[in-house]
Parts: sequence; structure tokens; C-alpha cells
Amino acid sequence: MFQEEQKQIEQQIYSIFKENSIPFAEDMGWAPVPFSGEWGISTSFFKIAALEAKSGKSLNVPQRAEEIARLVAENLPPQEYFSRIEAAGGYLNLYFDSRLFSARVVNSVLSADHFGKGDPKGKTLMVEFSQPNTHKAFHVGHLRSAILGDAVCRILEFAGYDVIRANFYGDMGLHVIKWLWNYQKFHSGETPPADATRWMGDLYAEANRRLEENPGLESEVRELYGRWDRQEPEIVDLWKQTRQWSVDGFHDLYEVLDINFDRIYANSEVEFQGKELVDELIKKGIAEDLRPDDAVIVRLDDLLGLKKEKYRVLVVLRSDGTALYATEDLALAKLKFEEYPLDKSIYVVDVRQSLHFQQVWKTLEIAGYSWAENLVHLSYELVNLPGNVVMASREGTVVLLEDLIREAKSRAFEVVDEKNPDLNQEDKMEIARAVGLGAIKFPMLDRENTRIVTFDWETALDFNGQAAPYIQYAHVRANSILKKADGLPSAAIDPDYELDPTEVSLIENLSQFPAVIQNAAREYKPLHLTHALFEVARSFNAFYRQAPVLNADPEVRDFRLQLVEASRIVLSAGLNLLGIEAPKVM
Ligand code: ARG
Repeated sequence: MFQEEQKQIEQQIYSIFKENSIPFAEDMGWAPVPFSGEWGISTSFFKIAALEAKSGKSLNVPQRAEEIARLVAENLPPQEYFSRIEAAGGYLNLYFDSRLFSARVVNSVLSADHFGKGDPKGKTLMVEFSQPNTHKAFHVGHLRSAILGDAVCRILEFAGYDVIRANFYGDMGLHVIKWLWNYQKFHSGETPPADATRWMGDLYAEANRRLEENPGLESEVRELYGRWDRQEPEIVDLWKQTRQWSVDGFHDLYEVLDINFDRIYANSEVEFQGKELVDELIKKGIAEDLRPDDAVIVRLDDLLGLKKEKYRVLVVLRSDGTALYATEDLALAKLKFEEYPLDKSIYVVDVRQSLHFQQVWKTLEIAGYSWAENLVHLSYELVNLPGNVVMASREGTVVLLEDLIREAKSRAFEVVDEKNPDLNQEDKMEIARAVGLGAIKFPMLDRENTRIVTFDWETALDFNGQAAPYIQYAHVRANSILKKADGLPSAAIDPDYELDPTEVSLIENLSQFPAVIQNAAREYKPLHLTHALFEVARSFNAFYRQAPVLNADPEVRDFRLQLVEASRIVLSAGLNLLGIEAPKVM
């Protein structure tokens, strides 16, 4: 925001250096002075002193750095933007004029098309996320992946990357064959009820139960897998039809969650390509074919000459020639790079699959695929649903997303109804939907990706805590002030009054937004954004309580109105980047 001023002062410092025959480094390495009510930037002269010492001058580096800092501070011409210049140790601290800084921040937010949006980086990233399995329930693990992946995509895009949103449906594998077996044998001709995803999941659980009770039936499942492998039309047709039931259900869910994809891959799509890749690995001498007695394997540690166990052995094909998860992931990784000019290919997948990906990717690297080094596992931990969230088991019913959403909405409705009884029913429902979904999404994002999320309703719907409704509510407050104000002063305003400390800290939080976005994008961590947004909401609320806006003197009122608008913009943009709506009233 202050690049111009920074450059200007650099030039002035360089000319002081010149006059005093001090060598200078290209990069001054400016860093913000830690904020404590005053904004500033800082640099140090230790490097330069060290440079002088190296070139033969005998001097004490810290002492010399201090000397240079003092020299610079004393010789800089009077500044417009910096109200105070200070030499401290070997450091030079430049403090901005708070009013000018504040005006600049607020004005930048108001005048930008999208405040905080990064310049195009010319880099293409694929993010694969959500990845539910057809013929099974959509469980909370997939939900975390869906919500995290979506937020990461939104943040990356906003930060300036080209993003390809990918999904990978687990539409083939032993689980599907088990499902088909159970269906053919016990449910032939049935079609799913309205709640298709639940029914698909129930039938899968039933298949497992039957096979556990009667392990002798496994041979029928294996035989069915053989028929799939031979692509017998009857089986392929049945698979297509039933697969669609799941896929339709997924689409409905994504619509509710406001999540979309550019490319949906499927296991079935890469199953046969995977087998070809395995052949290639065998030919290259990377994989060992132990069929028919045993599987096709890659002894990774041996190939790499590792003494200690690290990558272990990867099984890439079953002894009966059917494909495995790894078979498909080998081909999928390759297909992605064939289809898109990717700089990185990111997989949002739960942490238990870490070894699997390390193995698959190492295998590809050994096979000579140079892009293998650009594969990234963005791993996340489980979601815990204790206590007040109904949880059921794998054998019975998994917690279904529909149930979670229904409950979120009805709980949110109660809260909205209590807070704002005068709203009409339709509005209340609409707000309850936005608040309910926010309550589900926020806890999944406001946490280190690699830590378990413990989801509970009280925290998720807390209007006073670190939760979505708190941020949404700050946005609502900003809106209602602006609505009452009828009209916003459009010209840039330099505040001509002593800023309240709550204003200063709100402005500080707003000014951080662009850097927060870049940080969150670089580290694939929406958590940086949830934290920052919470701080914006909190400082906005403090400002709201402390500093009158509508009843203030005209010049004060005008600047504060702009500050309210700037806050509204950042809150709404930030929520949007998390995939959370920002209702106008609540
Ligand atoms: N469908 C898998 C599961 O439910 C996740 C797939 C992750 N992506 C991948 N390329 N393997 O565990």
C-alpha cells in the first residue's frame, strides 16, 4: 500500500550513502514495525556494516550499524507520510502519519475492484478435493475435504493463481462390486427413494453385514469382479445405472454447499490406464510381477537403496489382475498432467493416506515422470462428532450430510427467530440456511488442517465466539449502519480528528487483509483467513460500541461511515472466500 513512499525514502537513503561512501545492498529488506497503536516500517544496517568490515575496514559491526542508522535518521529530509523517524540500535524505524495511513487504507478498500486480490501469477494449480465414493454414504470426512478444498480454491484464485477444481469419484473398486452383488441378489429391480444417497449407503452397509455373517459368499463377489473386469455388458449397465444414483445425489449436495468442479475424474476412468502403467513399470523393471501366486509389487526401499524402512512395498495390482487404489492413482496423476499445464497438482485427502501417496508418487518419480515432484498432499485430520451431534457407525448409518444440514438449519432458525422475531418467515428460513451452512463450514476451516475438528453445535452457532455467526453478525451491523446513513461520502477523506484507538485497531486489521490472503494461499491454510476475519469482526464490534458513527460530527461521521463500508467489504469478501454467505440482516 505504501510502495511509492518506500521507494522514495530508499532513494533518499541511497543518496545519503553515496555522500558518505557507504556501500549499499540492493534490497533494503523493509519489514513492518510490530503494530502497537502506530504504523511503521523498519530496516537495519548490519549487513552493510558487515560489508564494510569485509572490504578491509576495521570496525565493530553492531556499533557501525548503529552509527549508520543515526547518520541516516539525521540526514533524511522532512517527510510528508512519515511523522517520526527513529534510529534504534542498528535499526531505522519510520512511523507513518496515522491519519494519512488510515485514510490510505480505507480509501484503498473503497476504491479497489476487489480489495486484497492478488495480481495474476501465471501459475496453474489443480486442487482435487471432496472425492466421495459412489455406492456409499457421503460422510463427514468427505465433507471436510469438500469444505477445505473449496475454500483453498477460492483463496488461491483470489490470490492470483489459475485454479482447476477437480473431484475424484470412487466409482469402482471392491466396495462397488459388493454393492452390486447385494443389489443383484437381494434388491434386484429396486430404484432409490427420494433420499438416494442414504439408501445407497444403507445397501452398502447391508452388503458388508451379509458378507461378514457369511464369509463363504466372498467367492460370489470375486466372481462378479471378474465379470466387471471382462466388461460384461450386463454388469457394466447395472453399474452405470446405479452409479448415476449416487452421482445425482452428490450433485444435489454440492449445490446446497455452493461447491463446483471443473473436472470430475473417476476411478473407473483410470482403472484400465492404470493397468497399462503397471505393465510399463514391469517392463522397466520397476515393478515385480509375482502373478499368479502373488501380486505385482514395487519394492520402493530396495529400489532406492534405503537401509531403513521408509516407502516400503507398494502393491500395484492384485494377483488376479484386478486394479487397486494405487493402480488408479498412478494413472490419475499422469492423466492430470496430460490434460492441464499444471505447476502443482494438489490432493486434499485425509492424513491416513499419506503413505499411499508417498509410495505412488515415488514410484512415478522412479519411472522418470519429472512432474512427480509437483504433486502435493494437502492432508487433513478427521472430524469428531461427539455429544450433541448424532453419530452412527459404519455398519449402520453414517452421519449423513443431509441430516447435519437439516439440523444446522433448524438450530439456526431458532436463534434467528429469537434474535429477530419480526422478520417474515421466508426471510428467516433463508437466513437460517446461510447461518446453518456457515456454522458447518467455519469449524472445518478454523483449525490447523492436520488437527482433528471436534464439531459441536453450541460452538458452531455461537454468536459471541470465534464462529461464523459472529462474523456474519458484524457484517449485518455494518450493513444496518450504512442503510440508516442513506448515502456514503464518495470522496477520499483524510480524517481531521484524533482517531479513537478502536478505529486504529480496526484499520490495522483491514490493512492486513491482502497479506493474509497471500499467506493463506501460500500455505493452503484457510485458517489464516478465519483468524483474520474474526479479528476484523471483533475490532469492528469494539469500534461499534465505542465510537458513534451516525451521531458524530459531520467530518467524523463521514470518515467513520467510510470505515464502516470498508469493514463491510472486507467481512463480506472474506466470508465469501471461505464459501460462507454474508446475509444483510439476521
Ligand atoms: N475416494 C477416496 C476415499 O474415500 C479418496 C480419494 C482421494 N484421491 C485420490 N486421488 N486418491 O478414501
